[in-house]
Amino acid sequence: MPGGVNVGTGVGRKPTRGGTGDAAWAAVPLDGVNTWRLVYDDFVPEEEGRREALCTLGNGYLATRGAAPESTADDVHYPGTYLAGCYNRLRDTLNEETVENESLVNVPNWLPLSFRAGDGAWFRLADMTVLDYKQELDLGSGILIRVVRFRDSVGRTTRLAQRRFVHMESEHLCGLQTTLVAEDWSGRLEVRSALDGTVENTGVERYRKLSCRHLRPLRAESPSPETLLLVTETTRSHIRIAQAARTRVLARGEIVAAGRTATLDLGWASQDLVLDLEPGGTVTVDKVVAVFTSRDRAIFEPAQAALSTLGRAPGFDELLERHTRAWARLWKRSQIQIGNVETIQVIRLHLFHVLQTVSEHSVEHDVGVPARGLHGEAYRGHILWDELFVFPILNLRLPLITRSLLHYRYRRLPEARWAASQEGYAGAMFPWQSGSDGREESQLVHLNPVSGRWVPDASRRQRHIGLAVAYNVWQYYQATHDDEFMSHYGAEMILDIARFWGSIAVYDHGRDRYVIRGVMGPDEFHTGYPGAPDDGVDNNAYTNVMAAWVLLRALDVLAMLPKERRDEITGPLGLEPGETRRWGEISRKIFVPFHADGIISQFEGYEDLAELDWQDYQERFGDIQRLDRILEAEHDSPNRYKASKQADVLMLFYLLSADELSELLEHLGYSWNPGTIPRTIEYYLDRTTHGSTLSAVVHAWVLARAHRHRALDYFIESLLSDVADIQGGTTAEGIHLAAMAGSVDVLQRCFAGVEVRGDTLWLNPYWPAELGVLEFSIRYRGTALTLHIAGRTVRVSAGDGERPPIRLSCHGRVTILRPGEAVELPFLDG
Ligand code: BGC
Repeated sequence: MPGGVNVGTGVGRKPTRGGTGDAAWAAVPLDGVNTWRLVYDDFVPEEEGRREALCTLGNGYLATRGAAPESTADDVHYPGTYLAGCYNRLRDTLNEETVENESLVNVPNWLPLSFRAGDGAWFRLADMTVLDYKQELDLGSGILIRVVRFRDSVGRTTRLAQRRFVHMESEHLCGLQTTLVAEDWSGRLEVRSALDGTVENTGVERYRKLSCRHLRPLRAESPSPETLLLVTETTRSHIRIAQAARTRVLARGEIVAAGRTATLDLGWASQDLVLDLEPGGTVTVDKVVAVFTSRDRAIFEPAQAALSTLGRAPGFDELLERHTRAWARLWKRSQIQIGNVETIQVIRLHLFHVLQTVSEHSVEHDVGVPARGLHGEAYRGHILWDELFVFPILNLRLPLITRSLLHYRYRRLPEARWAASQEGYAGAMFPWQSGSDGREESQLVHLNPVSGRWVPDASRRQRHIGLAVAYNVWQYYQATHDDEFMSHYGAEMILDIARFWGSIAVYDHGRDRYVIRGVMGPDEFHTGYPGAPDDGVDNNAYTNVMAAWVLLRALDVLAMLPKERRDEITGPLGLEPGETRRWGEISRKIFVPFHADGIISQFEGYEDLAELDWQDYQERFGDIQRLDRILEAEHDSPNRYKASKQADVLMLFYLLSADELSELLEHLGYSWNPGTIPRTIEYYLDRTTHGSTLSAVVHAWVLARAHRHRALDYFIESLLSDVADIQGGTTAEGIHLAAMAGSVDVLQRCFAGVEVRGDTLWLNPYWPAELGVLEFSIRYRGTALTLHIAGRTVRVSAGDGERPPIRLSCHGRVTILRPGEAVELPFLDG
């Protein structure tokens, strides 16, 4: 691995940052021998929040943080469980205004399991002398294991081993197995197993000033001696959530009887089990839980579904075996191997969390891709543009999942059309933050934790989200050639999004160009012009260029559709030739701002902003990733400076190849020289704080061709996003899913150079030899492919089956690959 390669060569502007070399790797809790494990050998209260997020288990339907089963929410632990798509809205009064926020609900905690010896205190790690501690996330099987040996205040030594799953095959089932060994004591052991519906959404400190109670208790019962049932309902979306738990005690593999007392209260159902332990005696407690909601299909009602599913569920061990097999199948589809041990461990962890957040179970549900996974409450579980970074890896592995996640957007087209019409535009204007019904969920004010002030939030002006939706539809189609999807859903989305851009772009007579005013680009630091209200900026280059791209794709889609289908779609949309002619004209005449020296300007007027004294800020504050918060606390604003939170102009190089961008700018009548790319990268790199984990992914990508070592540095940074929590402690609030997926994508599409365009699979590897040999499996238009990159050769093997041949192009050389064949292609040294 490269050591600390510094970034930023700016002349007295942004100071260079330390690299992310060996020292940072050392801080990552990975098992150097087994690349399938995340291992913690000690208990560190300050790190527990992050570990809980990283040890989350999920299956696309639900996810549960890796919190200790005996814990409740406090300043160390946060046991959260989230169901994909389960949102609720709460209102508050803030500065005499009503604010309403929709949140992904922290549903009842199914984990609670504690115990005590004799009439001692209930087990809490903090009260014990810990003799041994190990927590291990097994990525291959999706199992979280915890082993603790401890001594209590009266000197009794106990060994505790726990393992748990959130079932990857049977989406409604979860399980926790606890084995206790009384090493040097005997007597009464009491075990408490519970379902806790008193939980609230308090996982993010800055949101705690607003209401956080989303659940209303409905039922708490013990329908049979070993079963508990808890039913709650979200207060305003009225989603009923039922959990049924079965707790069994086993000794030597046999179920044994235990005295049981149930406590049933509002939002709480528990059972205390009393057992007798001999010295050295071992007892196992299996807790299996079924979870259903009123949003589920093919059920009568959730409580009955939970009870009957639980009643039919086999024992913990059999469930665990099936769960492990389901993961093995999933990994077979997503296999990836890299010579470099540290890299492959984190890449596996990243893929693991992507596969847990969205899975084949998502296909049956109306769910999107929350930016922070189902792992915490940051962004209130909302769905932003982050799927742009997630879909490329799904498209080439599990395209069915992308398809269903695109349906999440399709179902919300009417809402997006309504939103556009309310602002006086045509077409569909997707919200920057989306939740249950697709209305705009971005907050209007947010709390700056540095100043303690509530400040206006203009992020909803990031209209570019619609461009990402259209881009995703197009990319999915490129990877799958799914004509049915394109014809029935994709085309309508692209056309309606294009229509929005066609209507927001206005003709500027003076320039004889179309302009787009009052938007925000991906860089969230620029919400307006210095001293002016937060009304957005004009002609954000990323937005304008991608708008031209979408308009062209919309014309492609129209040309692609058979006439009959075209008429079926355009008729109800009222799309007339005059409008599509206008699209063509805008795609040739949209304004793109450039600096005097030919660099694409982030937006019109950016060049006139002040330079920030980077050194001063770095010296005074150290971490300036969230420079916006620092400046606001000083009654200043990033709007005054050439300073960006994340890649903005550079996103163009991320989404479009140099050839595509050249063609597009040429089509727009600009004589752009791709030779300016390196200068453009340097220019923005020197002025970027990387206040978003997306930034490292994009910079790794754009630097890959010209500066491999610096690209690797950013790539490593993207690997460290969550394992080393490089955004100042934000991982505890949920993983950064786009950075996780993005790091895999950098390997796949950037370093390995696998791209889908036209009817060709392009292979243009610029593989960094430092990473060792790479092998991974993908699916391209229904054919399974394994790619093996070693030295300067890529070998592609196609699976068998009745599939059409594949057109491969490696650095310009075209090869046809048939099912069952393999081909070895040399590639140039990048
Ligand atoms: C970034 C956005 C991103 C969001 C969620 C923000 O910090 O600026 O681009 O969508 O995080 O990941």
